[in-house]
Amino acid sequence: MERKIIRSDFDDMMKMLQEPGHEKDEVLGVYDHWANNYEQDNSLIGYRGPQLTANMVSKLVENKDDRILDVGAGTGLVGKELHKLGYTNLDALEPSRELLHIAKNKGIYKKLFCEGIGTTKLDIDKGYYSAVTASGCFAPGHMPPEALRECVRIVKQDGYIIFLMREVHWNSLCDKLQEVIQDLKARKMVSDIHVEPVPEYHIATEYNPSAIPGIKIVITVSKHD
Ligand SMILES: C[S@@+](CC[C@H](N)C(=O)[O-])C[C@H]1O[C@@H](n2cnc3c(N)ncnc32)[C@H](O)[C@@H]1O
Repeated sequence: MERKIIRSDFDDMMKMLQEPGHEKDEVLGVYDHWANNYEQDNSLIGYRGPQLTANMVSKLVENKDDRILDVGAGTGLVGKELHKLGYTNLDALEPSRELLHIAKNKGIYKKLFCEGIGTTKLDIDKGYYSAVTASGCFAPGHMPPEALRECVRIVKQDGYIIFLMREVHWNSLCDKLQEVIQDLKARKMVSDIHVEPVPEYHIATEYNPSAIPGIKIVITVSKHD
């Protein structure tokens, strides 16, 4: 099947977002520029991260009023899926102003934080959330593996951290992510670590002739410092 092209700038944008060597501000500039076409384009390339993330939350978080933070919320696609499943207490953290503006207009998030997560402490209390999700946020120039420590800090004991990412990014970041996970494990701050392949993170479409595999990771927080 011949691959259809979405728009002339789309391939350049995708390439830039997947390759290493770009500064954080450059990456955010691309997302700001992409904001108005983001949802339609992701549907054309068969992106399933938000549905898969929400399904995982529904298996783990029983109480629909529990607080959940959607990290790297983008335009709010994960929140939209969680809202459909009945979750009522959703916050969003997203460094791209333009994406966050679209997320805000969905009217499903309570608090919205216009910032990224990394090594700096967020203005969020320890153990505040029952779960933190991040779909598609581990990539070069995006959320760094060290940000996992801050996710652990803001999730309550026995709460969950749920990450989905392209397999290719897991392959390049897994050494560093595993290093952080092993350190947190050694300090008994996290217990169960579940890593599972997702063969159809993106399904094949006429714009995306083969499925793109991904990885899902669920980490259970066991205690804080
Ligand atoms: C591929 S998009 C995924 C957006 C949304 N989660 C979704 O599934 O549609 C990656 C997102 O990560 C955000 N991002 C980049 N660096 C980040 C950081 N340090 N902390 C949190 N989010 C970040 C980007 O702005 C972008 O919205």
